[in-house]
Amino acid sequence: MINTTGWNRLRYTLYAPLYDTVAERAFRRPRRLALEQVHWQPGMRVLLVGAGTGLDLPWLPRDVEIHATDLAPAMVKRLVQRAEALGMDVQAEPMDAERLDFPDGYFDVVVMHLILAVMPDPAQGLAEARRVLKPGGQLCVMDKFQADDRPSGPLRRGFNAVTSAIATDITRQARPLLEGAGFVIEQDTPVLMGSLVRALLARRP
Ligand SMILES: C[S@@+](CC[C@H](N)C(=O)[O-])C[C@H]1O[C@@H](n2cnc3c(N)ncnc32)[C@H](O)[C@@H]1O
Repeated sequence: MINTTGWNRLRYTLYAPLYDTVAERAFRRPRRLALEQVHWQPGMRVLLVGAGTGLDLPWLPRDVEIHATDLAPAMVKRLVQRAEALGMDVQAEPMDAERLDFPDGYFDVVVMHLILAVMPDPAQGLAEARRVLKPGGQLCVMDKFQADDRPSGPLRRGFNAVTSAIATDITRQARPLLEGAGFVIEQDTPVLMGSLVRALLARRP
C-alpha cells in the first residue's frame, strides 16, 4: 500500500488543477453541515488542516481569524487565490499536519475535512490538533469512515489497497481515532453515501 507523506505531496500537487472539479460540488453539503455543527463566536481563532484549495472558506463566518495549512504548496496557492476572490483575510502556508508549527493551545477551532482518511498517520494528526487546541476547543471533522462497531472485511480491505493509494483510505474508524486522541465526541452525523461520510464535532476536554 502506498500512503506516505511524500507520495501525498506529489499526488496533490498533480491533482491541484483538477481538485475543485472533482470535490467542490460532491462535498458542498457535507462540508456545510459539518461547519454548521461548530459553536461559532466572533473573534475565534480557526485552523484549517489539510485545507486544500480552500473549499471550506465560503462556509466560514467572516468575523473569525483564519489560518490555513496544507502539505502541497500548489493547493495553498489556489487557497490564497480563493481567499482573495472572496475578500477574506486568511493566513495560509504549507505545513505537514503531523508537525504543526503553532504553539500549544493556540486555536479555538481546528477543522480537518477529508484529511484524516488521507494522511498516513491520522493518530499523529489528531495528537497535533489536540495540542494546538485550547482546552474546550472544538475539532470539526468530515471524512470517509468504516463503521465504528466492526472492522473492515477482506473485500473492503482489498479495495482499500487501491483507493488509499490514489484517493482515500476507507477502513479508518472515527470514534476509536478521535477518542484515542483524547477528544470527546459531541456530534456524529452521517452526511453522504449512507454513513460512509460523517461529520463529527469533538471537543478537547
Ligand atoms: C482530499 S483533500 C481535502 C482538502 C480540503 N480539506 C477539502 O475539504 O477540500 C486532502 C488534502 O490533504 C492534504 N494533505 C495530505 N497529507 C497531508 C499532511 N500530512 N499534512 C497536511 N496536508 C496534507 C493534501 O495536500 C490535500 O490538499
